[in-house]
Amino acid sequence: VPLKSRCIKGLADWILTSPCQRNIIVLAGAGASTAAGIPDFRSPGTGLYDNLQKYNLPTPESIFSLDYFRKAPDAFYELARDLWPGVQGYRPTLTHRFISTLDRKGRLLRCFTQNIDGLERLAGVPSERVVAAHGSFDTATCVRNGKSVPAEELRQAVLSGKEGPGGWQSLREKYGGLVKPDIVFFGENLPASFFKHRTLDFCKCQLLLVIGTSLSVYPFADLPREPPGSCIKVLMNREDISEFGFDISLLGDCDEHVQELVTRLGWQEVLKEMADS
Ligand code: OAD
Repeated sequence: VPLKSRCIKGLADWILTSPCQRNIIVLAGAGASTAAGIPDFRSPGTGLYDNLQKYNLPTPESIFSLDYFRKAPDAFYELARDLWPGVQGYRPTLTHRFISTLDRKGRLLRCFTQNIDGLERLAGVPSERVVAAHGSFDTATCVRNGKSVPAEELRQAVLSGKEGPGGWQSLREKYGGLVKPDIVFFGENLPASFFKHRTLDFCKCQLLLVIGTSLSVYPFADLPREPPGSCIKVLMNREDISEFGFDISLLGDCDEHVQELVTRLGWQEVLKEMADS
C-alpha cells in the first residue's frame, strides 16, 4: 500500500488499509520514556549525561564503561538504584501502550528497544515481541569469571548499598568478582537476540516507526537501513534526525503524535487504558 500523504493522517490511512499482517517494526529509545519521568541520555540540560557531576567521571559515558566499572564501581551501583525497574515505580507512557496495542491488533512484528526500563513489557508487549537491544536487569553476571548470578540477589545488594552483609561488596566476595546486571556497557556485545532478529525480521518490515532516539549508538543506529526499499519510515522525535531519510518526520513529543494517531485510527481504547492506569 503506498503512502497517500506524509503526515499523521497518511500514516493512519496506511495502517488501516494495509494488509493485516505483522509487518510493523518499532525502534525505541529513551524519548519513549521521558514522559514517565525517566530522563533520556543526551538532551542538553535534562539528559542523564549532563547530570552526573557528583560522580566525578572522566566522561559521562564512563558510567556505562566496563573498564571504569572495574576500577570504580560505586558510581554505577549508585545509579543502578534509580534505574532498576520497579524501584521508582515508573509507569508506561502512551507511546508504550500504543506499541502494546499494535501487538494486540496483530500488527507488531517486533519492538527493538534500547531502553532498560522494562516499560514496553509493563505496558503489555509480550516478551517475545521485544528485543532488548541493550540488555536488561533480568539477569546478572560476574564480570570477572562470567558466572551467572540471580538478578534478585544483585537487586537486593544494589538497594542495600556498598557495605554490610547484603551489600554489593559482600556479593563481590561471594561470587569472586564484581557483579553487573546484563545491561550492555560500551564495548560489550549486544545480546544474540539482537542479531537473530535483525537477520530474520527486517525483510518483512513494511512500516518502521522510530520513536524517541537520537540514533547515536551503533550498531542499533544502523537498523533503519535494514528494511527493504518499499518500507515506509516514520520518525517521532523531539530532535530532527532527518539525515536518516524518513518518509514522515513527526517532530515534538511522541505521546502527542501518538494521541493524534490513535484518535485517527479509532483506537480510543489506548487512551482509555492510559486514563485507567
Ligand atoms: P538519547 O538521549 O541519545 O536520545 C533521545 C532522543 O529522544 C533525543 O533525540 C530527544 O530529543 C528525544 N526525546 C526526548 N524526549 C522525547 C519525547 N517525549 N518525545 C519524543 N522525543 C523525545 O537516547 P537514546 O537514543 O535512547 O546505551 O540513546 C541510545 C543509547 O545511548 C542508550 O540506549 C544508552 C545510551 O548510552 C547504553 O548505555 C549502551
